[in-house]
Amino acid sequence: MESLWLATAPPIPVDAFTPGSSYDTVVVGAGLTGLTTALLLARRGQKVAVLEARQTGAVTTGNTTAKVSLLQGLQLSSISSHQGADGVRSYVEANRAGQDWLLEFCRDHGVDHEVRTAYTYANSDNGRQSLEKELSAATAAGLPVRMTKDTELPFEVSGALELAGQAQIHPLQALASLAGEFRANGGTLVHDVRVTGAGSADGDLVRVITSSGSVTARQLVLATGIPVLDRGGYFARLLPLRSYAAAHPLRGDVPQGMYLSIDAPSRSLRTARVDGMDYLVSGGNGHAVGRHPHPQALVDDLAEWTVRHFPVAAAAYAWSAQDYEPAAGLPYVGQVPFGNGNIFAATGFNKWGMTNAVAAGLAMSEAIAPDRDGGGARNWYQPKLSSRDVLTAVRDNAEVGLEMLAGWASSMADTSESAPPEGQGKVVRRNLKPVGVCTVDGSVSRVSAICPHLGGVLSWNDAESSWDCPLHGSRFAADGTLLEGPAVRGLDRA
Ligand SMILES: Cc1cc2nc3c(=O)[nH]c(=O)nc-3n(C[C@H](O)[C@H](O)[C@H](O)COP(=O)(O)OP(=O)(O)OC[C@H]3O[C@@H](n4cnc5c(N)ncnc54)[C@H](O)[C@@H]3O)c2cc1C
Ligand code: FES
Repeated sequence: MESLWLATAPPIPVDAFTPGSSYDTVVVGAGLTGLTTALLLARRGQKVAVLEARQTGAVTTGNTTAKVSLLQGLQLSSISSHQGADGVRSYVEANRAGQDWLLEFCRDHGVDHEVRTAYTYANSDNGRQSLEKELSAATAAGLPVRMTKDTELPFEVSGALELAGQAQIHPLQALASLAGEFRANGGTLVHDVRVTGAGSADGDLVRVITSSGSVTARQLVLATGIPVLDRGGYFARLLPLRSYAAAHPLRGDVPQGMYLSIDAPSRSLRTARVDGMDYLVSGGNGHAVGRHPHPQALVDDLAEWTVRHFPVAAAAYAWSAQDYEPAAGLPYVGQVPFGNGNIFAATGFNKWGMTNAVAAGLAMSEAIAPDRDGGGARNWYQPKLSSRDVLTAVRDNAEVGLEMLAGWASSMADTSESAPPEGQGKVVRRNLKPVGVCTVDGSVSRVSAICPHLGGVLSWNDAESSWDCPLHGSRFAADGTLLEGPAVRGLDRA
């Protein structure tokens, strides 16, 4: 599965990794958060390296739907229930700063982007009531959102919120331009180097340990989606959610707005024009990572829904990605609790990272190297964990515990290591330990099915031929190579 964006990405030149080097700041991860932060620091004269385990945009930013919108489903009413009206106001202010910065950057650098009206719609009466709450949270935060029943959708809705003047982008074009300007400002962008640890070095420096040797820095920024290194225990306060998307070539007129449903199953729509071809990009069918028995059924269901409702051809591209829902409603952005004040992280964008990642970059760069011209960012997310949020985190962790028990119990049932059919995988017991056996492209792999992060038992993802961890969302290729998540190494061969 490859996304429209990664398949049509411009070339992104990179630099060699030099172990033993010293930097002002090392940024881990070349997604939107990492590259925005790195560019802002490089513009201020810092010596910065971005260390990326895979390639630029390989994980969530390259597999997003890339709506740059302040109308974000039920995000504002959810934040209001966790953090109150002040929390919503500061969230909207930060997101508006992120949106303004990104769209100005796109305009200045010729990155494809289109201004569109955003809609959040409901099909049910309950959904309509949720829209009323979102409308009041948005209005209180100063957003000119209005309720309507008039949409371009080919089916009736019980209500829709509408916000004009939002935008959609090609995220890999944006990353390529960020990377280009970053390197032009003296920045170092490295691919295929994974950060595996961090420790203290002389003079309050951070030693950044990687798969290819170590470097030192005055600051370390973890822009890795869910933070690696487990400082701050973020994995216990985030729910990893995976969802699906596809790009269908057009055969007729389709809605031009950006749509998101709030009733289950979730549905997202936007158009895209790439290399002269027009597509309808649909998305949805999200679920907790590693906790759905047949993800391929969700991919098929989304494709069937899109073709049934709109004049489009079969999907030319289909893909999937995950983002992290924070227990406190707001993203976590800032210094990690257990560093010396020089390790930063940004996470918990809850599928709204196009604005939040940039807002996080503005905030972290301002904290690390304040902009003396006064052009820097003002916002700093400070989510408070209320007792209700703690209960949510406890509930999520209880579910994680149950998943762990269920994983170990089900892996005990089967001891046959016979090869499953093509594209399938199963977890079996060998000497009381779970082993994953799968067949992909005719080749049979046997790997330890124990997640190297904290011991979750992995489950097979038949849509992406991967081993997925139901605990905190680490994912591994069929042969055990680490793809994403808080783990920092791959699976042992069995
Ligand atoms: C299906 C889907 C649709 C979405 N649609 C939208 C949308 O329409 N609008 C919107 O605003 N948001 C959307 N989002 C959310 C948005 O895409 C993300 O929040 C955002 O892309 C996150 O960017 P990031 O840079 O923080 O993370 P990423 O893009 O995941 O970047 C993190 C990088 O860190 C690297 N990395 C990880 N560990 C290490 C390590 N140990 N060493 C070195 N590198 C490492 C990874 O390889 C990766 O490249 C969507 C999310 C999903 C899942
Ligand atoms: S991701 Fe934490 S145990 Fe697998």
